[in-house]
Amino acid sequence: MPNAPQLLHVVGARPNFMKAAAVMAAGRAAGVSQRLVHTGQHYDDVMSEVFLGALDIPEPDVRLGVGSGTHAEQTARIMTAIEPVLAAERPEWVVVYGDVNSTIAAALVAAKLQMRIAHVEAGLRSFDRAMPEEINRMVTDQLSDLCLTPSAYADEQLVREGIAAARIRCVGNVMVDTLLRCVERARTLPVLHQLGLARGEYAVATLHRAGNVDVSDTLAALLAALGDIAGRLPVVLPLHPRTRARVREFGLESALAPLRVIEPVGYFEMIALVDGAAVVVTDSGGLQQETTVLGVPCLSVRRSVEWIETVTDGTNRLVDPTRAAVTEAAATALGERGARRPHRPALWDGHASERIIAALTD
Ligand code: UD1
Repeated sequence: MPNAPQLLHVVGARPNFMKAAAVMAAGRAAGVSQRLVHTGQHYDDVMSEVFLGALDIPEPDVRLGVGSGTHAEQTARIMTAIEPVLAAERPEWVVVYGDVNSTIAAALVAAKLQMRIAHVEAGLRSFDRAMPEEINRMVTDQLSDLCLTPSAYADEQLVREGIAAARIRCVGNVMVDTLLRCVERARTLPVLHQLGLARGEYAVATLHRAGNVDVSDTLAALLAALGDIAGRLPVVLPLHPRTRARVREFGLESALAPLRVIEPVGYFEMIALVDGAAVVVTDSGGLQQETTVLGVPCLSVRRSVEWIETVTDGTNRLVDPTRAAVTEAAATALGERGARRPHRPALWDGHASERIIAALTD
């Protein structure tokens, strides 16, 4: 059996990959021994493999291949599959990322095996327990020996929840490490040209949150709002598989007709699309951060936000997920089109992953 690695990273779903890419690269540069487990929560090539390849993430050492299911089914399958892997690997640290089901499942198993857990992107809260991600965040933070946070807001929240200061380390925003490393190359891609889009003359939309897409009336309203915006300028919608399934189930195909619906795109293509957009309409947490750094107006069709600094300091605006609210907010954002105002909150400096490796090898 190989020597126990210093770090065992667990990833599973799309938003994990850009974070793990940065931390693993910093680990490689520091000569840290590390292994990678992919739970298989996301399994379509466009949701997983294209990110591994583009972001230079090494081939996972272990693939659990768990796939989709209800929350309980998926979480339980990950737990059952990862237990013998963790027991055999015995890493110094189990490193988990973000707020997806793979995160909480790995943390629960590692905690009961009495392994040290480091949570990257700890301390974020939307204060909305109807979001499965909120449950995942709270439990993972409680279980983690080291909460690696992106901001002082996150630190304060963890302290309020009774987590000892010694378990909290503010390291900054690791998504921004990857964004800054990749943005110049993204700008050289021909993706706008291929889609017949002119820079600053189109909108990008993404929708996949359960609260938005699993409720027929809400999804219908949001697609109608995007249709309204498409009356002014092209709206590109890379369609998440979950949303595609719901559109079919609710018989909403005709609402897609005014939109430029495309398959989910790779990391570099998405950054290129966002960077050139006049406005982004989304329920993604990642895009809230990326639009703030790139200076692109972002309308978050959500009632709560965990990346508060993107609203207080950045380009993000919370918009109720109704047709009237989204259409009106988009009209306002397009009316204000002008100088870009890129902004990087404190510690969104491209070096969070190095600070994470330093914290884990201290
Ligand atoms: C998950 C995360 C969410 C994150 C999102 C990014 C949880 C609770 N949610 O949501 O926080 O923002 O990933 O995409 O972990 N599907 C496919 N192919 C895939 C993956 C999913 O077809 O490769 C379809 C399946 O029908 C599946 C559905 O999408 O049932 C939902 O997938 P799931 O992994 O449960 O959650 P996401 O909605 O992707």
